[in-house]
Formats: sequence, structure tokens, C-alpha cells
Amino acid sequence: MSRVSVADYRKAAKRKLPRFLFDYLEGGSFAEHTISKNLSDLADVVLKQRVLKNIQDLSLETEIFEQKLSMPVVIGPVGITGMYARRGEVQMAKAAENKGIPFTQSTVSLCSIEEVASNSKQPIWFQLYVLKDRGFMKDVLERAQALGIKKLVFTVDVPVAGARYRDSHSGMEGSYAALQRILQSMLNPSWTFSVGIMGRPHDMGNLSHYLGKRLELANAAKWIKQNLDPSISWSDLEWIRDFWKGSIIIKGILDPEDAKDAVRFGADGIVVSNHGGRQLDGVLSTAKALPIIANAVGDDLCILADSGIRSGLDIVRMLALGAKAVLLGRAAIYALAAAGQPGVEHLLDILAEEMRIAMTLNGVSKVTQINKANLV
Ligand SMILES: Cc1cc2nc3c(=O)[nH]c(=O)nc-3n(C[C@H](O)[C@H](O)[C@H](O)COP(=O)(O)O)c2cc1C
Repeated sequence: MSRVSVADYRKAAKRKLPRFLFDYLEGGSFAEHTISKNLSDLADVVLKQRVLKNIQDLSLETEIFEQKLSMPVVIGPVGITGMYARRGEVQMAKAAENKGIPFTQSTVSLCSIEEVASNSKQPIWFQLYVLKDRGFMKDVLERAQALGIKKLVFTVDVPVAGARYRDSHSGMEGSYAALQRILQSMLNPSWTFSVGIMGRPHDMGNLSHYLGKRLELANAAKWIKQNLDPSISWSDLEWIRDFWKGSIIIKGILDPEDAKDAVRFGADGIVVSNHGGRQLDGVLSTAKALPIIANAVGDDLCILADSGIRSGLDIVRMLALGAKAVLLGRAAIYALAAAGQPGVEHLLDILAEEMRIAMTLNGVSKVTQINKANLV
């Protein structure tokens, strides 16, 4: 049996997707240094090799925010997931559900939260950006609560969009973008049929619902950019803490002082993240930031981490650095784009198997026991 890895799914996604979408997925901000740092710093994390440790009954199970997970993995929010596969948010939610882990739906999804919820048995997690239009925020939070959603991932590292130059060259934005997208789609007929035609409508489900009219991709990007709110501070979020009945997980923390503010705010958890290198280029990789933050607030709230996870070994490394679970960003989208829901389920099996191998060689049998003692 030949082994398949996240890297193989990445190659398959590259073949399948039109360039504007693959580049949008891969791209970062400015000169894209942080993307590579996320990968290389994580690869440099040194685990112990331990032997003859009688590893039996190996368990990947864990519990976060009073939810049991079959493995310490959450599908993270990725905007326009529905462009990577037909009704991609629904396929991703089903894959996560079948594998016993949560799916986080982005604010900027093609499918509305209602469409996804009506296709899943387990409640999804919902990700919200801080936006100027507080009416939208209130509306979507009310809808999420009505659907039984209990986990709010509140993304705070996008007060302004990062400077993403790839998008201007690849057809995501710019004067000739629409023409570029048409030409690229002609080179990828299977995507064009399956997603470009059969995956419609391509509007932003959550926003269209609120605005009462279809908001297509190009207009949605404008609406979001206009609505990002750099004037926000912790006190502006207090109404959300009072309004939201479930757990609040603040995503986009990279500094221990911000992590302490999140504790003071009363957050249940944080995601240590640099948004996959898509915001401020040149900041710390999460592999470097995580142990500092875990040291500062690890006993006060539940720490999750993302940015750069490409294998089960990477997941074990993140746990050893102080995370209780990780979020998958690009890795899950590679599998979704390449092979839809079955691809994501396969990818999660691969990650679980890689975790088991890494844990056995690291001499630990329960993910809940992994900590800095597993590092050299
Ligand atoms: C194409 C793309 C779209 C994203 N959209 C969102 C989003 O809508 N909301 C959000 O909080 N994070 C978003 N993220 C960030 C991811 O949740 C996650 O932090 C990041 O992808 C982790 O890095 P990695 O993909 O390199 O592992 C997005 C990331 C990518 C690559």
C-alpha cells in the first residue's frame, strides 16, 4: 500500500483548481516570509525519541470546551470553502462529523450557516470577524444561536486585510480579474463543471441572507474590506460576551500580553495564529509564539493553535508546545479540492495514523499527556 500525505493532496489540489483559487489558498501577505517560517520553525521542533515504553491502548481522544473529539483537531475557518468543491462547506462539515471532530464555518462562506446546519447532525462551530456593521454581527449571532451553535470563534487579527499581492496577479482581484478567471477556468474543465457551474449559487450565503440580496464574490470582497474595523478594542466586544451563550474562542493571538487580555475578557479559549501568514508578514511563527503564550496563560484558558500544520507529526509538535488541539487551514482544503468529502475523511485518517506513529516513537500513549516534557 502506498502512503499518501498532505503534500500529495496539495499537488492534486494544484492540478484541479484554476490558478486564481490555488494562489488565493497558498498566498500570504507582503513577501510571504511568515508562511515559510510557520513551516520551517515547526519542522525544527525537536521531539524526544523514546524506546521500550510499552505503548498500548494509544488514544487520540480529547475534550475541549465540553466537547469530545476523536483526535485533537478542528477544521478551521477558511473563507469561500465552497469555491474549492461543490457546496464545499457542507462537504467539509460532513467529513468532520464522520470523523468525530468539529468543523468551523467562516463568516465568508458560500453556504449559509442554515444550509450547513440542515445537512449536519452535530452543531458546527461558527467564526465571526469584527465588522463595522454591528447589525450583521448581531443578526448572524442570533441565527447561529437559533441553530444550536455553541462555539464562537471570534477572529481578531483582521482589523485590516493583509497586503496580498498574489491576488492581484492571479485573477482574484484587479482590472482584468474576471477575464483571467474565465480563461483559467477553461484550463480546468472538471472544476468548471463541478463547482463553477453545478456549485452555484456563488454568493456569500451568510451576508446575502442579512442584506436581502445576492452578494457575489467580487462584491462580497468589497463589502468585507469596507466593513473591517480597525477602531475595535476589547471593550467593544463586551456586548458579544454578554450576548453569546456558548464558548468564545478568540482567534489570532500571537502575543502573551494579548493572551492575558483575552483571559481578562473572559474568553474560554484562544487560537494562537498568524492567520497562516496572511496578515502581518515577518511576525513570529506560531511554533515560536505558542510556548511563550502557553507559559503566560496555559492554566487560565484552553489554547488552540494553527498555521503551518501539514502532518500528524506537526500536530504532536504543537501539543508538545502547549496547544490542547490544532486547527487545520490549508491542509484540509487541499483534500477537499482534490477529492471532496471522502478526500477530507482520508486526510484525517492519514493525520491520525501519523500521530499514532509519532506518539509511539515519542513514547507517549495519550494525546492528553503530551506536553513540553516530550520535547528535547
Ligand atoms: C484561503 C484562506 C482563507 C481563510 N479564511 C479565513 C476566514 O474566513 N476566517 C478566519 O478566521 N481565518 C481564515 N483563514 C485562516 C485560517 O483559519 C488559519 O488560521 C490558517 O489557514 C492557518 O494556516 P495554514 O493554513 O498554513 O495551516 C483563511 C486561510 C486561508 C488559507
